[in-house]
Amino acid sequence: MVYNELYRVKVSQLNTNCYILKQKNSRNALVIDPGADYAKIKEKLDKIKATCRVILLTHGHFDHIFAVDDLRNKLTKVGIYKDDEHMLYEKDVFSTMVGYDPRPFYPADVVFDREGRYKIEDFEFNVIHTPGHTKGSCVYVFEDCMFTGDTLFRGGAGTTLFGGDDEELKTSLNRLYNYPGDYAVFPGHEEPTTLSDERAANPFMTRFARR
Ligand SMILES: [Fe+2]
Repeated sequence: MVYNELYRVKVSQLNTNCYILKQKNSRNALVIDPGADYAKIKEKLDKIKATCRVILLTHGHFDHIFAVDDLRNKLTKVGIYKDDEHMLYEKDVFSTMVGYDPRPFYPADVVFDREGRYKIEDFEFNVIHTPGHTKGSCVYVFEDCMFTGDTLFRGGAGTTLFGGDDEELKTSLNRLYNYPGDYAVFPGHEEPTTLSDERAANPFMTRFARR
């Protein structure tokens, strides 16, 4: 990345990947999916001398949003796609199953109601709406990096068991398959990959997604 430094913090008992993007020329940081373990995220922010100004949520499952209210302050902007906004307030089937949920959270500051280019503070990025794992799952694209949440994993894809939809997920994977260019892919769980590697070898992409 040219403008940002990238760090990963593993959080929650589900090993969610929380990512920190820090602007190279300032203290400003953007955090993707603060899923739990606020102290761990704060420790990393302090270590890299960064202040969290923006939080982006790839979707509303509890293991991606649990620490959002600990991390934010009056100056922090929190963004989520419109179809998952309600998940900041309402229990979902997933959290009900694990019997543990901190909701309601404070409202989002930015609700993405369309795909395309956005700028929050000094961070510019593209939003791709990728329903399937949840209705409001989305992918954030920064420079040459794609943050895919629980839509696309290395060699896999997110489950549709917790409020998802198989047909929507297939369509979303197809759209990522056909998204122009190559990107480093940073998923919500497990290890990073690249879009070209997933196009070539991910069975969910090769089975469902075609040009
Ligand atoms: Fe999820």
